[in-house]
Amino acid sequence: MNKNKIIIFDTTLRDGEQSPGASMNTAEKIQIAQQLEKLRVDVIEAGFAAASPGDFDAISQIAKTIQNSKICSLARAVENDIKAAGEAIASAKMRRIHTFIATSPIHMQYKLKMTPDQVIKKAIEAVQYAKTFVDDVEFSLEDAGRSEISFMKEITQAVIEAGATTINLPDTVGYRLPHEIKAMVEQMVAFVKDDAIISLHNHNDLGLGVANTLAGIEAGARQVECTINGLGERAGNAAMEEIVMTLKTRQDVFKDVYTDINTKEIITASKMVANITGIEPQPNKAIVGKNAFAHESGIHQDGVLKHQETYEIMKPEDIGIEKNNSIVLGKHSGRAAFKDKLKHLGFGDLIEEELQAAFDRFKMLCDKKKDIADDDIRMIVADEKLNHNKTYEIIAVQISDCSNGVPSAVVQIKHKDEIITDAAIGNGTMDAIFKTIDRITGYEGTLVDYTVKAVTEGKDALGKVTAKVTFNDDNPPMIGHGLSVDTMVASARAYIGALNSYLSMKDMLNKTKQHQV
Ligand code: KIV
Ligand code: ZN
Repeated sequence: MNKNKIIIFDTTLRDGEQSPGASMNTAEKIQIAQQLEKLRVDVIEAGFAAASPGDFDAISQIAKTIQNSKICSLARAVENDIKAAGEAIASAKMRRIHTFIATSPIHMQYKLKMTPDQVIKKAIEAVQYAKTFVDDVEFSLEDAGRSEISFMKEITQAVIEAGATTINLPDTVGYRLPHEIKAMVEQMVAFVKDDAIISLHNHNDLGLGVANTLAGIEAGARQVECTINGLGERAGNAAMEEIVMTLKTRQDVFKDVYTDINTKEIITASKMVANITGIEPQPNKAIVGKNAFAHESGIHQDGVLKHQETYEIMKPEDIGIEKNNSIVLGKHSGRAAFKDKLKHLGFGDLIEEELQAAFDRFKMLCDKKKDIADDDIRMIVADEKLNHNKTYEIIAVQISDCSNGVPSAVVQIKHKDEIITDAAIGNGTMDAIFKTIDRITGYEGTLVDYTVKAVTEGKDALGKVTAKVTFNDDNPPMIGHGLSVDTMVASARAYIGALNSYLSMKDMLNKTKQHQV
């Protein structure tokens, strides 16, 4: 039997980033995009180019880096958005513009204040303009879940004639039930025939995002939009790992469809997204939660030991959880064991320089922390990958005891093979560190948000600091993350990470401007 491919459209970097607190900087987005490429995702929605210079920068850099997945930018059905999207993805090997306008009566009347005819006109213009940048244009009927089917058909016909090749039907507010999605998709698939692919984008407000997506696949949808760990606006989007593993595990039902996803990369992707965004999946989350394969009851444990399938419908190995990876690393472990561990944790592709830097960080961590868990290693390697070879790198931080004196800090920074040391006083220790960094780099930052979180276990846990800093009043805040057992060092790393992002964004925007002249 000829099977139909389900196109996996990942929107972790766009809708996923709309989760409160999930903002990522360019380096982090590139790291996630590379993992999505390893997963063999078909389309990566890398962001919303017109949203901010940071988004534009991230999409452009992802477009240059990724070879095997199509790179897409979201754009409202307005000229400036579409232009920004077209320019941001220009250097991608395979590219798509995703434009949208709301089609439900409530959105058209109250949000857009437009008549249905005006909405259709805008949609046609948007698709035609997008076609001047790319061949592949996706059109979304925002709030399709609450739109009238006759109007959906009318606008769909118009945008297909204008050149759209994928029609996405978002259940924007997560309102629909599986049988309703199934009926809607059946009608739309019959309507578009082979002229376009019908796609789904289901939000999870009633906890039905994945169920609705699967119902739509049964009805003939051939693209699904989803995110790692189900991240996304409000209650999130349908989780990619759940959709993909359901299709794989229940091939008896989903006989005629398949995905190209390499499921063995799922756990690495999930942990990476959790580490970077700081949003950990709940322990009982399907597929990737900490307890998803943990058997607590004696009866279950006994059953699994006798025959795995008694209580397991999937194998942990299928999503990349190593079964017998019992090597525990510590103070006395050498480079070979470290390298082997990295391979098991999905970091087998580190270049020599990154490997050495990560090994040095690991050795330093062993001096401060007794038990080194896999998550500690994951965190330091990811952090090293993100901060290695950047414009500025924190080498050392030393602070004075501020309890009965003037808070002061000495900071050492590497910049283009030069090590620069300076000191400053401040209104508190952290302020002194940031002021010293400003003195060394010559950029004055304003801290607009700061959070610190333990990301591994134990009293000597690794702390992750997220700093949002503006370096110029006109610019939106840049995000930096820093990791260390010492909060002050993590703070310095986060602050310098934000500066590196700012410089990389400025550089990219300058290059784009020069290119346009
Ligand atoms: O939920 C939604 O409607 C969206 C669209 C922009 C596709 O995210
Ligand atoms: Zn959405």
